[in-house]
Amino acid sequence: MRILKILHALQSVVGFRTEDTFPNRPASVEFMDRDGDGPRAAFVHRIGITRRILEDGAFEQMRFLDDYLALCDPRRTEWIRYFMDHNPEFLNGEVHRDRSRLLRPELARCVRRLDAMPVAGVAALVDGVLASERPSTFRIARAVTAHYFSACLQEISGTNVSVDEEVLFGVDIFLPFPRPAHLHACNQRVDSYIAAVRRIREPSPAELIVLLTLLMMGTAPTVATVNWTANRWHRQVTSGTASGSPPPEVDFSLAPTSFVMRRCVEDTEVEGHSFEQGDVVYLFLGEASGCPLHRLNSLPFGAGRHTCSGQPLSRRMLELTHAAFGESRGDWNRAVASGVVPGRSSAFVKFEDVTA
Ligand code: HEM
Repeated sequence: MRILKILHALQSVVGFRTEDTFPNRPASVEFMDRDGDGPRAAFVHRIGITRRILEDGAFEQMRFLDDYLALCDPRRTEWIRYFMDHNPEFLNGEVHRDRSRLLRPELARCVRRLDAMPVAGVAALVDGVLASERPSTFRIARAVTAHYFSACLQEISGTNVSVDEEVLFGVDIFLPFPRPAHLHACNQRVDSYIAAVRRIREPSPAELIVLLTLLMMGTAPTVATVNWTANRWHRQVTSGTASGSPPPEVDFSLAPTSFVMRRCVEDTEVEGHSFEQGDVVYLFLGEASGCPLHRLNSLPFGAGRHTCSGQPLSRRMLELTHAAFGESRGDWNRAVASGVVPGRSSAFVKFEDVTA
């Protein structure tokens, strides 16, 4: 019952968002009372309050998957557990700081790898999709994102092991209430890739965490952002304004991540709202007040201690994408634009494969 209520509250915001808007929720913060022994849940719809909470030491990162992993076979969720124990996303305090430091130089290697990537190669991929039988912005986004992530995975693993699209785009552990079968499948995909790498070379602990981070935290928001960018490009071309007008700029303003979660660890008040120790807080990363200035009011990479470590890498990927779209000579008018899959409650926005 409680899960259904929370799902409904999440869906009322992220299930009905489009790629360009968060809906209008009248209350700044909605509290859902305790149900039996379960903690109180809070839903924050104002981006200013979200920022304050993310920067406030009274709210900590939480291991929201623990209850669901307890229902799974431990041997079939090994990588998800390892990831949660070692990636900064799920850690607090000094361990979090140490893990973030460990990741930084490895992620910088990925940025350098992309700096050396020829734009012409990415443009050729785009043109390949545009010349295919059923081109869509969804397929462009997948092809381009797979190209970037394959290069990063090869850079970090020190191998040429290729990774297929099912592994890259089939791993999403950031669901509020995942089923065991889903977690088993995600783990299996990650395992198949890591096992292939290990047959050639054993990655160092830092490299291993980056490989897992790329697969479990990197691809989902990136492919959504690239799809969003391709849609903007497509709109510009099909409305006849592409030639002569400046291309749209790299823009992350509408978060492909819909929400993040925190647990309140001491009673506190934020902008007149009282939070109690133990409250589970769902923080939307776009303003959900219907405010027309919402574009200026989003936190695509989060805020505070857990701000996205992959931000420089994502920026580089988006710069390359823009450059490649600019060099592309294919016919964008043939492509179909993919919208956001409606009705979902996942943390990352998903786009529809409209030509499937
Ligand atoms: C457009 C693409 C991306 C978006 C919008 C995005 C968004 C976010 C957000 C909102 C958070 C904060 C989570 C929280 O507060 O709980 C986050 C954290 C994180 N992201 Fe990203 N992300 C993107 C790409 C990437 C990539 C490519 C990587 C690396 C491969 C990455 C690695 C991380 C890591 C390691 C954290 C945890 C940071 C910490 O806890 O200190 N992200 N991301």
